[in-house]
Amino acid sequence: MDFELKALSAAAAAREKCDLLLVLVSEPAAPGTLGSDAIGALVAHALKQGDFALSVGKQLPMYQIPAIAARRVLLLGAGQGSAKEVRNALAGCAEVLKAKGVAKAVLSFAFEAEATAVSAAVQAIADACYVYTHTKPQAKPVKLQKVVVGVAAKTTAATSGFHTAVAQAEGVAMAREWANRPANHATPTLLADAAKAIVNAAKSTRMSCKIHGPAEVAKLGMGAFMAVAQGSREPLRLIELHYNGAAKNVAPIVLVGKGITFDTGGISLKPAAEMDEMKFDMGGAASVLGVFQSLARLQPAINVVGLIPACENMPDGAAVKPGDVVTSMSGQTIEILNTDAEGRLVLSDALSYAARFKPAALVDMATLTGACVVALGGLRSGLFSAHDELAQALQAAGDAALDPCWRMPLDDEYADGLKSNFADMGNVAGRAGGAVTAAKFLQKFVGDIPWAHLDIAGTAWKSGAAKGATGRPVGLLLQYLLAQQGKAVAPKKALGTRSPRHAAVPAVDAKA
Ligand code: BES
Ligand code: MN
Ligand code: ZN
Repeated sequence: MDFELKALSAAAAAREKCDLLLVLVSEPAAPGTLGSDAIGALVAHALKQGDFALSVGKQLPMYQIPAIAARRVLLLGAGQGSAKEVRNALAGCAEVLKAKGVAKAVLSFAFEAEATAVSAAVQAIADACYVYTHTKPQAKPVKLQKVVVGVAAKTTAATSGFHTAVAQAEGVAMAREWANRPANHATPTLLADAAKAIVNAAKSTRMSCKIHGPAEVAKLGMGAFMAVAQGSREPLRLIELHYNGAAKNVAPIVLVGKGITFDTGGISLKPAAEMDEMKFDMGGAASVLGVFQSLARLQPAINVVGLIPACENMPDGAAVKPGDVVTSMSGQTIEILNTDAEGRLVLSDALSYAARFKPAALVDMATLTGACVVALGGLRSGLFSAHDELAQALQAAGDAALDPCWRMPLDDEYADGLKSNFADMGNVAGRAGGAVTAAKFLQKFVGDIPWAHLDIAGTAWKSGAAKGATGRPVGLLLQYLLAQQGKAVAPKKALGTRSPRHAAVPAVDAKA
């Protein structure tokens, strides 16, 4: 899809030749403030007659209106015009955007839209037009090819926000696509190929990737990761992506994404109902791929490393058994009491590996616990961090990107249940507080690096009739990464340097 930002008054929008003109109308643009142009007159009339209202969800479709060049016109109520309301208004017209006869659409704001609202509009339209076809050739891709986003003035803020939104939409689409592909079409090897393809397509010396196979991972001593993979015929992959947009000595932000391409539970087998949804258990990995796709487009001045431990969790004669004790890369031993708590095992070794990049910040994303779904549902991802500045920066980024998270506790007492008589720790701690105890397990592998964990079990995909990946938390991560530009301080030479490199969090649109 091709998005174009254009300075368009309401009068000019009415003259744009297209198949569909979407007009977002907010309360501040209510009668009196509307112009005397064709669209303004129409909106005022419809409001007066009670045929249209401005709350989100209200729509008034029209056809071949004199003085308007577009064939179809759709008025959309946008409430107060906030980013969230604009997103919701556009999400509600997916059917029209996907209509057969719509190849070119124009979006017009009948109010002074803030940059965040323009970004939200781009993401909402892109989201509405995504169609999964990889294993469903009969699904028709949308006809819509061109979307002109009309704003009052092409200010620098509007233009840069727009470019970011287009790049973000591309990253989100990539994450959705890879998470949606079934496990036999998204194996660890295929995920590694996807990472290579992103790097090759970028044609940029700033991007590179390294793929580690079973032999290299064994050499690194990643006993926890290998234990999960050993029950599968699919060889594991440790995918390492690099984006270098800043000076070499600037400490990178390291992103780690859980890449379980299918989670049967292993010997601690899951029940059959909805087990198919465990193909989404690489949603964290998909978000890393999505972020790198966006970085390739935006080329910001930061350094980023992406790590994806990818494998299947299968029951098999060779599979790891409850009670088995393995030695992680960190040297700590783990008693695997439940083979279904596999995400923390693969992540523990990837987090240990991350230390070699001396990260300014380390953030992992994982569809880690059903307990997090119970706690927060599908609206907010769980955010765990002992580092206040990092937690606040991520929370603010999530709010701004409409990809919100909620901070959860990390008191040391939550780790009590992880004690084991046979190893340095067990991999589970009972049902209570399951999302927190999983985070406490991960924390044992990060040392003193500023670290945050996002449990995206409830947010990475939707179940039921709308079953499919959401592309979250690509928006949150991208927003966070872009806010770090220019904040990095070169690491000190001395050994064991801590890295308090996060300056104050920028103020973000509180309305978002
Ligand atoms: N991938 C699952 C978590 C999950 C479950 C995400 C349901 C979304 C929906 C993870 O590997 C898992 O199985 N976690 C267990 C942990 C338990 C054994 C301590 C869980 O949440 O039940
Ligand atoms: Mn599991
Ligand atoms: Zn899992």
